[in-house]
Amino acid sequence: MIYMKGMNDVKVPHLVQYQGSKRNIAPEIIRYFPEKFNRLIEPFSGTCAITILTALEGRTNSFVINDINAPLIGMMEECINNPQALASSYEKIWLGQYEEGENNISYFYKIRDEFNAGQQDPARMLFLLARVVKGAVRYNAQGVMNQSCDKRRFGTKPSMIAKNAQSISDLLKGKTEFYSMDYREILKIARSGDLVYMDPPYQGTSNQENPRDNRYIQGVQFDDFVEALRDLNTRNVDYVVSYDGMTGDKVIGRYLPEDLGLTHLFINAGLSAQATLNGKHEITRESLYVSRGLKRAEDKYKQLTIDEYLVVGGA
Ligand SMILES: C[S@@+](CC[C@H](N)C(=O)[O-])C[C@H]1O[C@@H](n2cnc3c(N)ncnc32)[C@H](O)[C@@H]1O
Repeated sequence: MIYMKGMNDVKVPHLVQYQGSKRNIAPEIIRYFPEKFNRLIEPFSGTCAITILTALEGRTNSFVINDINAPLIGMMEECINNPQALASSYEKIWLGQYEEGENNISYFYKIRDEFNAGQQDPARMLFLLARVVKGAVRYNAQGVMNQSCDKRRFGTKPSMIAKNAQSISDLLKGKTEFYSMDYREILKIARSGDLVYMDPPYQGTSNQENPRDNRYIQGVQFDDFVEALRDLNTRNVDYVVSYDGMTGDKVIGRYLPEDLGLTHLFINAGLSAQATLNGKHEITRESLYVSRGLKRAEDKYKQLTIDEYLVVGGA
């Protein structure tokens, strides 16, 4: 992806495809962040699109990334702290699919079986993500990864992984703490002066809420999440939340309650891939909620045009 910054085009590195990644709309999200703040905490960090762009813009020098998916955090930790080791382990696994007598599809399932049997090292996680359909790590109720491989692709080339991993490391090494726990636990460390960016799974996309749609290893209950935001309000911690939105005219999920005092914006995330598959042309608008303390930057909101955003409350 190319991010326009002033007159220059700046490439924002990303490691691997990941379903739900915010990399395409990251610039739209971080325009609501303060110019400077103490520390960025991402309780649902995934592949860290927002952390990476925030580091590139130099808004803070201190980052906390957390995701309940431990192998995923292990992968990002290795990427940031040992990028070339990650790239060379990935290359070995990636080249295995081209070995004589090997079929690239059964090779994928062999690596997935090894992963499910406990070999959850960063390079194996990276290879699986690079090869699964839509970058989606689906799990069954027992926590076994069961996503199939994308038969049309062989996964990101090792040279590209090496380049991007190094760029991500250059931005974040020595400045980042890594955790793998439930978001409510990591929120306990947040203090006034930090900024928390939260991108929980969409409502209805996890085993707990909807056994037929288990896009992530765990999920978030709406009421618990609201409670956690209320607690941040009480502690004067600023935060920005991505949480569902609209496809065409259809609202996805429930809006966060008005009494949290948030400004609710919609970001135009482009044509919905699912709707396009069904022969419709519908725009996806992702909800973005901005906490009370961030409203100080009133000017930002005034620049918005109705084509880009629809402000529905709070402001
Ligand atoms: C929409 S994705 C985040 C994507 C991320 N913004 C990116 O750019 O890659 C949501 C993430 O939340 C994680 N997750 C799900 N339930 C969680 C929980 N209870 N606590 C912490 N993380 C959780 C998932 O493993 C997943 O990586």
